[in-house]
Amino acid sequence: MIQCPRGTRDFLPDEMERRRFYENRLRHTARTFGFRETETPIFEDAELFILRSGTNVLNELYAFEDKGGRQIALRPEMTAPAVRMFVNGMSNDPKPIKIFYFGQCFRYERPQSGRYREFFQFGAEIIGGATPETDAEAIATAAAMIKELGLKDYRIRMGHIGVLRQRIADAGVPKERTAEVLQKLDKKLYDEARPIMADMGVSEEEMEDIFSLTETVGGTEVLDRVPGEAGDWLRQVVAYLEAAGVTDVEIDLGVVRGLDYYTGMVFEAEAPALGAEKQICGGGSYTLSELFGGEKVFSTGFAIGFDRILLALEKEGATYQPEGMDAYVVAVTDDVRIEAAKVVASLRSAGVVADVDIMGRKMAKALKFASSARARYAVIVGAKELEQGSVTLRDMSSGEQELVPIDALVQKIKG
Ligand code: HAM
Repeated sequence: MIQCPRGTRDFLPDEMERRRFYENRLRHTARTFGFRETETPIFEDAELFILRSGTNVLNELYAFEDKGGRQIALRPEMTAPAVRMFVNGMSNDPKPIKIFYFGQCFRYERPQSGRYREFFQFGAEIIGGATPETDAEAIATAAAMIKELGLKDYRIRMGHIGVLRQRIADAGVPKERTAEVLQKLDKKLYDEARPIMADMGVSEEEMEDIFSLTETVGGTEVLDRVPGEAGDWLRQVVAYLEAAGVTDVEIDLGVVRGLDYYTGMVFEAEAPALGAEKQICGGGSYTLSELFGGEKVFSTGFAIGFDRILLALEKEGATYQPEGMDAYVVAVTDDVRIEAAKVVASLRSAGVVADVDIMGRKMAKALKFASSARARYAVIVGAKELEQGSVTLRDMSSGEQELVPIDALVQKIKG
């Protein structure tokens, strides 16, 4: 039997319906916050990601040469594609440009619970300016989305990558090796960072100071450890977040992020119930447009790991009841099957979600099928009732039956 490739999944109808339900809630929240939906190709020139995405993502790229000899990559994330789209076709639009997207991304990772090779992101980008208000707007949107889905146990942590970059540079880490150090700090792998940093000439004392900076977590009071503009910036972001009613964002100067393009505020959300793969959202401010041939424009955005947030909801016991259908039409005998087909056609054209038996089942089996398909009603079409222009309507949950004129069927079912 051929299975779907490692790290990918099929979504069967019940699961797909649940996913669409939550996806649409995210769409609704994005629109409420003034974002408009976009879509970009699933594959791009590999260069788009190689230019800036950071070593983590590059090692994980699904890249190949196409028949025309072009280097192509399946997108590992959607920020670079969104910015490319902006440079190509939206750069003259009034700013800020607020867009959102939903779709699959591909990373060649070792699959485990919550980590897939094909996964879905719901993300948003605010392109156009660097202001604390922009940063707050992005975090407030992400927070509203997490709330809208009904997740209870989560944490949002905000830091500033500029602070850490500066501190590392001051300690003597050369610019071209910053990513190497940040990668270790991102995962809090201090023992692995030590020899690397020692090799760069960073003293023990400076190292410990940097490590303790990445362990700095708390309320706005920890910003006292952040000198100058970055501290003031984050204080303002917190003020705007409070104005938006978002009061549960912690300061964590150890938020590093796995992608290279961030320049200022960075944030992550996690759902502790998920264990190792608990990060459900990540984002921050960045500039990418100048790398893709456009003018330099500051942006802030984030992406929610859709699969992970659904896993977290499941862990909290959130259940989704599939919608089923309004009516299932059954012919009592073969000679009225055409009449049954007419009845279902009239229901459908009136907007009733209806299906009809096409397997030639006997009544008892057809009713059993209707119940497994979660039909609210069965519409039983029999020759005797048809003579009076009526059908039998069976309430599938109570089992009660009544004779209903065909003319009144839609109203009865919709009512
Ligand atoms: P990211 O943190 O790499 O950021 O990915 C965003 C989210 O996607 C993660 O927080 C996680 O929930 C989910 N995710 C990542 N990899 C996997 C995987 N293999 N399986 C399941 N879920 C996964 C970005 O991609 C940035 N583009 C976010 C952004 C937008 N920054 C600014 N704008």
